Amino acid sequence: MESFATLIKTRRSTRKFTDRLLNPEQVEMILRAALMAPASKRSNPWQFVVVEDKEMLAKLATCKKAGSAFLEGCALAVVVLANVMESDVWVEDASVASIYMQLQAEDLGLGSCWCQIRNRFTADDTDANQYVRDLLNIPYQLDVLSIIGFGYKDQERKPFDEAHLQWEKVHLGAYSAPEGNKAGEEA
Ligand SMILES: Cc1cc2nc3c(=O)[nH]c(=O)nc-3n(C[C@H](O)[C@H](O)[C@H](O)COP(=O)(O)O)c2cc1C
Repeated sequence: MESFATLIKTRRSTRKFTDRLLNPEQVEMILRAALMAPASKRSNPWQFVVVEDKEMLAKLATCKKAGSAFLEGCALAVVVLANVMESDVWVEDASVASIYMQLQAEDLGLGSCWCQIRNRFTADDTDANQYVRDLLNIPYQLDVLSIIGFGYKDQERKPFDEAHLQWEKVHLGAYSAPEGNKAGEEA
C-alpha cells in the first residue's frame, strides 16, 4: 500500500473476478482483519462463515433478486453474522468488520464487493437472511448482515473521482441547511 489515502481512493467494488483462487495466507489475512475490527464494548458479537466451494457460492449468488449474482464468480465469500442477543449495536459491529475485510483485500491487491443481506429478499420474496441461514445451518440467535465476495480483479475500475466529493454534506460547527432549503421555508 502506498498510503491509506491512496487505498481508500482506489478501492472500488469489484463484481467480476478471474478464476484464480486465493492462497491460505490471503484468506487468513482477510479474516484477521475482521477479527481485529473494533466493536462496541469489545463484545465482538460477530461470527464469520468462510465459503470457497463453487456450488455453495452459486447458491449464495441467488440469495437476492438483484445485487448478489457476482458471488458466483468470486473465489471466496465471507458471510458476516452477528449474535443479536450479544449486542444492541450488532449492525454497526458487523458493518465495521465487513469493511475492514474489504480494505485488507484491497491492500492485498484483491477485489471485493459487499452483498447486503439484512432487510433484503430473494426473487420469491423470502427473507434473504433466512435463505442464507438455511443454506449454512446458521442458528436462530445469529443474523446475517452481509456477504463479502473476494477474488482477483477481472475489471478495471477508476479510482474515486474527487470532483464527486459531496463537501456540502460537511457542516462546520453546526448543521447548516442547504441554500433554498432553510428551516421555515416552504419545500
Ligand atoms: C451497506 C452496503 C450494501 C451494499 N450492497 C450491495 C449489494 O447488495 N450488491 C452489490 O453489488 N453491491 C453492494 N454494495 C456496494 C455498493 O453498491 C458500492 O459500494 C457503491 O455503489 C459505491 O461504489 P464503489 O464501492 O465502487 O466505490 C453495498 C455497499 C454497502 C456499503
